Amino acid sequence: MKIVKDIPDLRIFLTSVHVPGTSLGFVPTMGALHEGHLSLAKESIKNNDITVCSIFVNPTQFNNPDDLLHYPKSPEEDIRMLEEIGCDAVFVPDNQMMYPEPAVISFNIGYLDTILEGKFRKGHFNGVALIVSKLFNIVRPDNAYFGQKDLQQFVILNRLVKDLSYPINMVRMPIVREPDGLAMSSRNRRLNKEERKNALAFYQALKLAQENLQSGQTVNNTKSEVADFFQKQNKVKLEYFEIVDAETLLDVKEPFGGREVALVIAGYVGEVRLIDNFIIRI
Ligand code: PAJ
Repeated sequence: MKIVKDIPDLRIFLTSVHVPGTSLGFVPTMGALHEGHLSLAKESIKNNDITVCSIFVNPTQFNNPDDLLHYPKSPEEDIRMLEEIGCDAVFVPDNQMMYPEPAVISFNIGYLDTILEGKFRKGHFNGVALIVSKLFNIVRPDNAYFGQKDLQQFVILNRLVKDLSYPINMVRMPIVREPDGLAMSSRNRRLNKEERKNALAFYQALKLAQENLQSGQTVNNTKSEVADFFQKQNKVKLEYFEIVDAETLLDVKEPFGGREVALVIAGYVGEVRLIDNFIIRI
């Protein structure tokens, strides 16, 4: 596996391997890799001639400096895991390489930046859109792989690709979970034993909501059931729980008409902010 730090070196490598008739899959990450990330990379390896992963903890998408400071890092382990599954190249730029000077250009993401994560993490999606569009221009993949775990990120990047005519096929991959249901996340590493147990509340709330909706309950009823669930415990702090269209992220109401509905949740366990979601067809 090629390990590349510089943009010019990556371009030289890609020019030699990504020749007409071959397909290039790309998996952008911030490292501290787990099975969730690896599921994206494995899918890319299965469906493309060449797979490139990137590892870059992107400072411009951290609205909370403390979160950036404590973001877990395990570069050697990450590289070993990517090598083991057969990734062709890993791009590991530093801040100077990605941001030789602060970016002046920013994105107006419209309504998608004012709801859910956008409401609670000001500037976050501008940072994501900025780094992913830079990475897309550097790597020029045919297929790009993202997790449903960050559903709003996927929806926004999908719009970015459509609205700016990037010739890239966007693939949304399902959430990989721990055996007890907790969605895998690099941030889970920051949880102590007690917090790790408490973090399951988000998954339990999603299950409760899913059962409610699938048994014919309304959106309003389901939301108040979830609110009750969190009121009865003081182990985690709910930030939001919403029931939205999985493609537009706009609120939905029954009758749902057989569409993909996303149950999205976010909150804090101690200092650590976690997100999760279910997508169901009802
Ligand atoms: P990061 O949080 O490292 O995630 C990289 C990719 O892995 C994202 O597409 C994310 O949705 C996916 N992922 C994370 N946990 C997952 C899980 N449990 N199951 C399936 N997929 C999972 O998302 C980012 O990095 C950054 O915002 C990035 C796109 C790299 C831009 O900086």
